[in-house]
Amino acid sequence: MKIAVVGTGYVGLVSAACFAELGHHVTGVDIDEVKVEKLKSGVSPIYEPGLEELIQRGLKTGLLSFTTKLTDILPHVQIVFSAVATPQGENHQADLRAIFKVMETVAEHADRSIVFVNKSTVPVGTGKKCEQEIAKILAKRGKNFLIPVVSNPEFLREGMAVTDTLMPDRIIVGVNHDPEAKKLMEELYRPITRVGKPLVFMSRESAEIVKYASNAFLATKISFINMLTEFCEVTGGDIRDLALGMGLDSRIGPRFLHAGIGYGGSCFPKDVKALMATAKELNLDLSIIEATDRINARQRHRFFEKILKALPKKARVGVLGLSFKPKTDDMREAPSLDLIPMLIDAGHAVSTHDPFAMDNARKLLPDAVQFVGSPMEAAKGADAVVLLTEWDLFRGIDLGELKQAMKGKDLFDGRNVYEPAEVKAAGLTYHGIGIE
Ligand SMILES: NC(=O)c1ccc[n+]([C@@H]2O[C@H](COP(=O)([O-])OP(=O)(O)OC[C@H]3O[C@@H](n4cnc5c(N)ncnc54)[C@H](O)[C@@H]3O)[C@@H](O)[C@H]2O)c1
Repeated sequence: MKIAVVGTGYVGLVSAACFAELGHHVTGVDIDEVKVEKLKSGVSPIYEPGLEELIQRGLKTGLLSFTTKLTDILPHVQIVFSAVATPQGENHQADLRAIFKVMETVAEHADRSIVFVNKSTVPVGTGKKCEQEIAKILAKRGKNFLIPVVSNPEFLREGMAVTDTLMPDRIIVGVNHDPEAKKLMEELYRPITRVGKPLVFMSRESAEIVKYASNAFLATKISFINMLTEFCEVTGGDIRDLALGMGLDSRIGPRFLHAGIGYGGSCFPKDVKALMATAKELNLDLSIIEATDRINARQRHRFFEKILKALPKKARVGVLGLSFKPKTDDMREAPSLDLIPMLIDAGHAVSTHDPFAMDNARKLLPDAVQFVGSPMEAAKGADAVVLLTEWDLFRGIDLGELKQAMKGKDLFDGRNVYEPAEVKAAGLTYHGIGIE
């Protein structure tokens, strides 16, 4: 099949490269010329394990290409995917301007029926609005074909995006009354359904809600365990034992029960808030989700306050990890973006290391921050070391060497990755989350 994927970010680029890997002819489209030039030469503008190899293979086989001009390729494609960003906008609602722009371009330039598939995370009803707008534009142009709008939300995890796309738990497709669009989507995903992965059709509205509900549920699981960290600290419990004891119940499961400084990233924070905004607009009650959001903010704040209180005046702090989670260079809503400016504002010096996110972080953090080449360099002469991202590189650190490098003794473990007894044995003072 011939498809276009508009928006070559964390979702669109992975989708484009994976669709090409599955044998489709794919053109990735982006307004960012620098990004498109890099992609044309086989360089991935983002860090995502396995992605660059797929891009290079796609370019070599000729199944994958890139352009900035959507209008040039419209005559040649059967499906246009929109995978542009839907960041937090006014009043926490999803900002849909990029999607509407893509949708308008398609409606204004298409000369035959194309299926418009929305892959971005959008509030319920967006597909309907897009379809109505497209119909208006086509009518104005005197065209008598239709452009159906399909919802195909994305569930990939950054850091695992290639595997998640090629071997997803499920593919959700929302189509309303359009058997032709349904058939095309079935054909598109056949290489994946053939190996037993479920493709589930439902209404467009349900598909749009499934995405928000899934993210809100996962975020709630994280906030649930985080809510109990303070409880453990006060009562003498150990949150890791709680997670283990609860997670072994097959009805609960162990995943998303790791206590820490709360969720960040490009999806959970904005999606939880956007869902709340939709509910508010409709005057509906989503109080569990509101609590999830509140607990997450409090969790981060509680940990940072603990650090700030423990530091001497004009301290030196080593920060390990900048991206919002390991195996990505994505800095969106990363805890480091809150903590590091707080430390600098309080008169402390910060040196930091991250294996992949330093280039992105440099653009977002104060000039005073020192970016260094290794975790030990970040710890050198530090009064305290704070772990923010659980990269494997930091998990396996030699604690004795860390103690030697530091001036002080405090190790703040924002992800509960270290064994408190081992940290103490190395002569350091351990500060975890929900651990006495
Ligand atoms: N990042 C994730 O892990 C993830 C997972 C699931 C769903 N999502 C959802 O997928 C969507 C995309 O997220 P992302 O993280 O890939 O965003 P992103 O910011 O990484 O990528 C968006 C891309 O779209 C391009 N773009 C913007 N306007 C454009 C236009 N008019 N024409 C062409 N290109 C344009 C940008 O230049 C950018 O390259 C969002 O709705 C997000 O919520 C993201």
